Amino acid sequence: MDARAALSQLACPLIPVVVIDTLSDAVPVAEALLRGGISALEITLRTPVACEAINAMKSAMPDAVIGAGTVSSREAYDAAVRAGADFIVSPGATDQLFGAADEHGIPFLPGAVTGSEVLKATEYGYSTLKFFPAEAVGGASALRALSGPFPEINFMPTGGLTPDNVGTYLQLNNVCAVGGSWLTPRELIMDQEWESLSQLAADSVARVTRISEGEPG
Ligand code: 3PG
Repeated sequence: MDARAALSQLACPLIPVVVIDTLSDAVPVAEALLRGGISALEITLRTPVACEAINAMKSAMPDAVIGAGTVSSREAYDAAVRAGADFIVSPGATDQLFGAADEHGIPFLPGAVTGSEVLKATEYGYSTLKFFPAEAVGGASALRALSGPFPEINFMPTGGLTPDNVGTYLQLNNVCAVGGSWLTPRELIMDQEWESLSQLAADSVARVTRISEGEPG
């Protein structure tokens, strides 16, 4: 299912890309980010405990919007859905992933950067796409260029976004959400600095709110 409707319901369009190394950190990390005003998290399937982390977060906070990221295979897609993920994000897209998305019926953000990748996603009915690695493939100017041939496509850029450049992305008409790992520095998680994590999120949410209200940020 296309993610446009789900993303438009988020109070804050800022989606932290989270890596959980230690399962017991999962719930405190999610609590800290949500306390800071974040509406949805993407837990990357890059560590052995990622699916258990999603499951722990959903068990502790059933109403929280918890997605799975770095979903790169059919097996990973199935495992993330079994763990309770509310949405699925992939850095790319394959026929297998589109097939899994059709079966599971939860929002799916396929990754696309080139014209052919965007067209393939549209053939499968998707108009809301992850744009990764955003900064490395041209950043905001690449997205602005894509809005010419693809005016109906919305993107969620991730990859190289920072508090300093996030405003440039959010000002684009074809950006519906932004993501990144700057909100979850590994050192803060390792040191269990939950208040600092929450404050970092609150600062970024405040900045994004100012930007969306037309202020410089
Ligand atoms: C992702 O999977 O979206 C990226 O790893 C996020 O990129 P970043 O670490 O540069 O924010």
